[in-house]
Amino acid sequence: MRVSVVPGVTAGVWPVTPASGCQGVSKAGEVAGRDIIAGDVVREGLVSMDIVRYALLIAHFIGLAAILGPFLDQWRSDVKRVTQTMVWGARAQLLTGLLLVGVAEMNDFEVDHAKIAVKLLVAVAVAGAAEVGAKKTKALTSDSPADAVRTLWWVVGALTVVNIAVAVAWR
Ligand code: HEM
Repeated sequence: MRVSVVPGVTAGVWPVTPASGCQGVSKAGEVAGRDIIAGDVVREGLVSMDIVRYALLIAHFIGLAAILGPFLDQWRSDVKRVTQTMVWGARAQLLTGLLLVGVAEMNDFEVDHAKIAVKLLVAVAVAGAAEVGAKKTKALTSDSPADAVRTLWWVVGALTVVNIAVAVAWR
């Protein structure tokens, strides 16, 4: 396997650049008989773990779209609804996020635990608000007040944007 080490660049054990949004840096150690320092980029080619990580990351983005798509679609509607697509998107974010952390740990990639804890907390709140909101949406009748659903619709959308901000701005 071809291994090259580029010193002095903050990144992870797989081919990522600082701009690509990895959520930690590589640990110091030794790769293929060569010393690396914390923050080195280590290129190992496209191995199976890379494929798993990319697949999970794509699923993570699809989950995000499943929440924000229906949210934005209703921006100008008078009556807001929390849809099943939003619920499944929120569940997908929890599952794919945790699996991404697992894959990173398996690859000896140093995960920023504080950042992940914040994301997990926010994602649990998104999923909880989505579950309750969807149940209340189902119970909506033409003359029942829609304020509670509207609030939960807002909470789901706003906290999802908070998690995007945490993902991209906390480095
Ligand atoms: C509503 C919930 C969530 C949203 C909107 C969200 C959003 C994002 C976004 C936009 C990225 C890409 C960042 C970038 O490439 O710059 C990302 C990456 C990531 N997220 Fe989430 N996330 C959510 C939940 C979670 C949860 C619950 C976890 C783990 C407990 C998690 C773990 C990760 C990890 C490990 C990555 C980095 C993947 C990589 O580069 O290898 N996310 N997330």
